[in-house]
Amino acid sequence: MRNSTIANPADLVREDRVHHSVYSDPAIFELEMERLFGRAWLLLGHESQVANPGDYITTRMAREPVILTRHHDGSLQVLINRCTHRGALLAHEARGNARQLVCPYHGWVFDTNGTLRNVPVAQGYGKDAQATFAGLGLAKVPRVSSYRGFVFASLAATGPDLVEFLGPIASSFDDMVDRAPDGEIEFAGGVFKHAYNGNWKLVLENHLDGIHPNSVHASSVDAARAVPDDPAARPGAERYAEIPLRQMRQNGAPEPVWEALGIWSSEWGHGYMGDYHSDARLVAAMNHPVFAEYRSRLEARVGPAEAVRILGVSRFNSVVYPNVSFMSQYRQLRIVHPLAVDRTVVYTYNIRLKGAPEQMYRDTVAFSNVVNGTASWVLTDDLEVYERAQRGLAAATPEWVVTARGASGDVEEPGGFRRGATGTSELYIRRQFQAWRKYMAEAPA
Ligand code: FES
Ligand SMILES: [Fe+2]
Repeated sequence: MRNSTIANPADLVREDRVHHSVYSDPAIFELEMERLFGRAWLLLGHESQVANPGDYITTRMAREPVILTRHHDGSLQVLINRCTHRGALLAHEARGNARQLVCPYHGWVFDTNGTLRNVPVAQGYGKDAQATFAGLGLAKVPRVSSYRGFVFASLAATGPDLVEFLGPIASSFDDMVDRAPDGEIEFAGGVFKHAYNGNWKLVLENHLDGIHPNSVHASSVDAARAVPDDPAARPGAERYAEIPLRQMRQNGAPEPVWEALGIWSSEWGHGYMGDYHSDARLVAAMNHPVFAEYRSRLEARVGPAEAVRILGVSRFNSVVYPNVSFMSQYRQLRIVHPLAVDRTVVYTYNIRLKGAPEQMYRDTVAFSNVVNGTASWVLTDDLEVYERAQRGLAAATPEWVVTARGASGDVEEPGGFRRGATGTSELYIRRQFQAWRKYMAEAPA
């Protein structure tokens, strides 16, 4: 088997290795769009992005451009962003508000639930016009469902419902929302976008990877260590440079720290890295009046004991396979859009905890700048290594990629999670590929 044997993609995944073609074969990518992205629940965004009637965002699911709208009856609608006349994109902007969707080509008009409302000079269709127009509403994505404000959709009419699909990883969304003093969050501000010349799986693997920071991020660790500890001694340093500095230095933690953290994974390829940064190590505001104010507002809603529980949850990245990675504790979320077998774009959203001091949101943006911004010292390291991985993975020899680290020590835990033997177990990659295999084994109904 030199290159992929599309006849049976399940053969490309084994217990402790995967065939390199799953990263590099365009035919595999096409099959993924049909069988995996064409079937899985994909996160589209958050209800706060379409809070008011007529609000919409545009995005994509597999190969389909889609529009998420808030219809005037309050319902959420996910429509294929393609005019049913001769196929033009209806909505071009990333987001907007519209009473109706008007096609830019010949002016057909659709309601925000997809119903065809008007066709200019309809008499040109003759006496059968109404019959021709019946059924020419916009195509709808068959399943749409929200979990705590996060909007998912599936291009498949059947399959596990969203709650079953998420399983125990739903607790990471709980962690994010529970932290809000008002009990709600919103996507706020703009979007960081970064693209790389590599397969979409590379970023989802990297986000739970505790072995790479010491090598990939060595240069940013060195740079951060060179900065004086005392903020007053930092030339031109801003007050909140503390957060990025701590994050960058943390990447240089010695090996025992990485081994001791936790890696958990569940069915359908989801997983999270826990016990990575404690607030004491990372959140500069820990002993800051802003954090004290935040804590007291949270306590006012949930009580002191529940506030201790909420703030005691320590999760770094959570991955909901196959299109989202988010940081509940640090209030940012990334949606992964595969464009081609070797081209991916990632959108990053910053999240505001409603009811929290505004400085918390500023901290989120500062942190996001370091981790996800295009001028980030950290992200650029990862993007470079994704591209090098992609170039290496295109080679036909050796055929297999090893995912065996910790394979003999995975431990089942109550509640549906499996835990890696150590913090650097490649458990999460094995689980991602088990899900991949399941999706890819058969064509959607
Ligand atoms: S393509 Fe939309 S109105 Fe013709
Ligand atoms: Fe990294």
